[in-house]
Amino acid sequence: MALFRNRSLQTKINLVIVCVLLAFFALYSFVNYRQQRALMIDEAVEKARIIGAEAIRVRQYISTQLQEGKVALSMERYGLVPQVVSNRIGSLVAADLGYRVRQVSDRYRNPDNAPDAVESRLLRELAADPTLPGIHRITTIDKEPVFRYLQPLIAEQSCLECHGDPKDAPAFLHQKFPPEQDKSYHYTVGEVIGAVSVSIPMQRLQERTIAKVRTDLLHSGGILLGLMAG
Ligand code: HEC
Repeated sequence: MALFRNRSLQTKINLVIVCVLLAFFALYSFVNYRQQRALMIDEAVEKARIIGAEAIRVRQYISTQLQEGKVALSMERYGLVPQVVSNRIGSLVAADLGYRVRQVSDRYRNPDNAPDAVESRLLRELAADPTLPGIHRITTIDKEPVFRYLQPLIAEQSCLECHGDPKDAPAFLHQKFPPEQDKSYHYTVGEVIGAVSVSIPMQRLQERTIAKVRTDLLHSGGILLGLMAG
């Protein structure tokens, strides 16, 4: 308090005002950062939902086209299986964007679709509550922070041809994945078969948030300095 003792009353008042302004500035910056971050997560969920919706629509569209064009699936046309088309297009788009998009299941048919630890955990949560539209988490992959989102894929009647009784499945499927080892059968309508899994590096999402918070801080800092100078 020695600093205070020899000052005039005016200086003391000024110091108190500066401290109050600084405290407000700190509080404002904190609230602003929190708001921007919440907005960033909302936007990321929206992006992931668009990717999930596209995956489901691509599968449905190809499926209808194959039926209307009377195209029979076979081993040679494995790349035209609606599920495979949707999965592969997802990975191609993801590579373009620097994201990762996969279709995973804990009872996978193709080992490439095996879930990682985070996906397994989120799949269990989705299976426990099939009404959830999706779940997101922020975790790390190779120590890098990543936004993860899983959108459930629910079994419909049309899925059961290849995911119901193995006897109903096309021959090429038996040939490629012998039914005794294939865990992707015996589903019933309404069950969660798996999920579209979207991973977006947090760095990609944060770039804009950090820029926005920085400009906001510069503006409010400038106003604060102006006030103090006055
Ligand atoms: C014509 C057969 C067929 C139909 C119909 C079908 N699937 Fe599949 N499904 C497959 C094949 C084949 C794979 C393996 C894909 C691969 O090689 O990546 C697969 C894989 C999956 C996977 C990834 C996990 C795994 O087992 O490898 C999910 C999830 C999935 N299907 C969900 C569905 C849903 C939901 C429907 C209905 C809306 C559906 N499938 C309809 C053939 C089918």
